[in-house]
Amino acid sequence: MKAGLAGEKSDLKMLPAFTDAPSGKENGTFLALDIGGTNLRVIEASLSGDGSLKVLRSSKTRIPHTLMKGSGIELFDFIASHIAKFLHTKKSGKFKLGFTFSFPVEQKSLTSGLLITWTKGFTASGVVGKDVTKLLQMALRRAGLGFIEIAALANDTVGTLAACAYSCRTCDIGAIFGTGTNACYLEKLSKIKKVGGAKGRGRMIINIEWGNFSKLPRNEFDILIDDRSNNPGRQVMEKMISGMYLGELARMAIRKLYDIGEIELGKSSLRRTGGLHTSQLSALETAKGKKYSEIIEKTGLSGISEEDLTVVAAISRAVVIRAAKISAACLAAVIMKMDPRIARKHTIAVDGALYENHPGFSRTLRNSMKTLLGKNSGNVRIRKTADGSGIGVAVIAAASHRWTH
Ligand code: GLC
Repeated sequence: MKAGLAGEKSDLKMLPAFTDAPSGKENGTFLALDIGGTNLRVIEASLSGDGSLKVLRSSKTRIPHTLMKGSGIELFDFIASHIAKFLHTKKSGKFKLGFTFSFPVEQKSLTSGLLITWTKGFTASGVVGKDVTKLLQMALRRAGLGFIEIAALANDTVGTLAACAYSCRTCDIGAIFGTGTNACYLEKLSKIKKVGGAKGRGRMIINIEWGNFSKLPRNEFDILIDDRSNNPGRQVMEKMISGMYLGELARMAIRKLYDIGEIELGKSSLRRTGGLHTSQLSALETAKGKKYSEIIEKTGLSGISEEDLTVVAAISRAVVIRAAKISAACLAAVIMKMDPRIARKHTIAVDGALYENHPGFSRTLRNSMKTLLGKNSGNVRIRKTADGSGIGVAVIAAASHRWTH
């Protein structure tokens, strides 16, 4: 983390977000556009100025796979057309928009930033190295929406922190456990050597990009999933933790047992690449004590005997628990970097489907954090911040005058 902050070579990019935590007094009505790993969401949110906010309207759509891997222009045109639909007939007026873009971006200011590299299966051409705010602005113009002002650009972790911090003074970390995984935290400006911050007294949010950490020991399946991905050697820890990979990781281990004749898989989808989705793991990881027929119904897996299903469930549990323990170690490390004796109170804002839908993941994460942080662990709490990444960027847009004028 220190090397990244100093601009030296580091797995952790430690990207300055050009914003700090909101004061809670931000107010007004804002649009928020949230592009994550799977979905695209537009929100209209109203901030009261007293720490409370309301989502007035929202609309969500899946980003088609062909667009994730097609041309950047088409991807941004798709985004703009979704905003146009959201605004219906409103073809003018004053709209300020916060833009959550959940990929590693080197920001030059609160409203501009270059995409360093795609992650999470995206490969759309002509975007890496470009200013994503400009690409969005141009697509908005092409869609006749040039009147929308992009007031802030933020990573989803940063949005999540801001959404929670709007009403919670102790929130200083934001983390995502979803299709991908990552976290951000509030750092003293004096420690952010690469923005020459030594002069400043305040704080700035840093997007860690921890998914790219590469110093953990890997097993044969971790190596295989990385080799077969479209970004081998990169986002190595993300491939051990996040929703995009866990199902396939478990499936590969199950498939190996089949290959060496330890279990029977019949015609089960588990024999095929992609045949086990992370969302199916939650029924498997909590299978202990449940009826065979119930698990089969919930997972939709067929062609497996009751005995072999116990093995499949045990592997699924192991994969999810390992992911949760690594995540806990990462969060504990960030807390210790900020406050080695854990003398202050810290709130971690968390969002993402893996955390939300996998009870084994969230339980293990919380318990492991307690073990790792020891006697002062009571000073650290986790707050689920559903849809934080979108809502939070509206808060950042409302606070933008502090950073852009
Ligand atoms: C990937 C992206 C990162 C994002 C995370 C969670 O790791 O690189 O920017 O925050 O996924 O969506």
